[in-house]
Amino acid sequence: MAPTKDMKIGILTAGGDCPGINAAIRGVGKTAITEYGMKVIGISSGFRGLIEKEYALFDESQLSGILTLGGTILGTSRDKPFKNSTNAENNSPKIIRNNYKEMGLDALVVIGGNGSMKTAQKLYEEGLNVIGLPKTIDNDVWGTDVTFGFDSAVLIATEAIDRLHTTANSHKRTMVIELMGHHAGWISLFSGIAGGGDVILIPEIPYNIDVVTGYLNKRYQNKKPYSIVVVAEGIEKPRGVRAGTYIAQAIQEKTGHETRETILGYIQRGGTPSPMDRILATRFGAHAVELIAEGKFGVMVNLVGDQVTSIPLREVSNKTKLVPPGHTLIEKGRKLGINFGDKRS
Ligand code: F6P
Repeated sequence: MAPTKDMKIGILTAGGDCPGINAAIRGVGKTAITEYGMKVIGISSGFRGLIEKEYALFDESQLSGILTLGGTILGTSRDKPFKNSTNAENNSPKIIRNNYKEMGLDALVVIGGNGSMKTAQKLYEEGLNVIGLPKTIDNDVWGTDVTFGFDSAVLIATEAIDRLHTTANSHKRTMVIELMGHHAGWISLFSGIAGGGDVILIPEIPYNIDVVTGYLNKRYQNKKPYSIVVVAEGIEKPRGVRAGTYIAQAIQEKTGHETRETILGYIQRGGTPSPMDRILATRFGAHAVELIAEGKFGVMVNLVGDQVTSIPLREVSNKTKLVPPGHTLIEKGRKLGINFGDKRS
């Protein structure tokens, strides 16, 4: 193993923020400084900071008090340096390569979701020593059982669903809640089960609105006082209308039952990380530094079972981890009588 003392590693956070990012930054920083004597450079605003050379040397003091802090102290952006990279004007990759050298970096830790892992792989192909750390509330990064941010979002969404039960019961209403997840239904599936949803609609299971309303009508014929409908933002719907609004309007029109919708939105991305996310983010951060010390680059840190390992970034790029329709929570949910909007319900 090459001497690590005074190695300089850069950290950047890119894409949508989520609880746990600062815990990951802390895991990288404290391991690098305390265990390996490395220097840690915090790069601002995702890949934009690498292009504009916005960075600062971290010392231990800046890593204190951030374990429980939501968001990212480095800031983030959705800048994609390789977008239109065939276009001659786009010399972002060249600028990044030069800045990486001028900053004297020996390695770069990219904390991000799907898109950021794709950029990380391209930077690795450009010759940078890159390690990816998968974060997102969506849990849709291929190659890892789970991303940090997901557990916190499920906790937030479940607490919201719990609160909808009491107001739905008071007014004898159907309450629809739309949750985030981009093109995947992980947050809706997990918090729908945890929160006692009666209907759970996710992009991975095409739904028929008449199956949904027929199910709800049967509930009301059986004197159920209210229903909870959990809807992932990425389900099939007309352009220009929110999924939750669309489903709520359809239910109200087709059942005549008073229906209201809640779009939970960015609340799912805010605030302090759950204990599990703090632990996972810390493990991922520490493992990233161990990989750097071993000289292992071009990989993404991942969780497989209870092991934190790594997977080549090239295997992760251009893939999205969607909910398999046969997922155990779907099978068990069907047996509980939960409706997933399809004929099998
Ligand atoms: O990827 C996280 C996420 O919150 C998705 O669930 C959501 O669809 C998207 O980001 C929203 O993007 P933005 O923060 O750019 O509005």
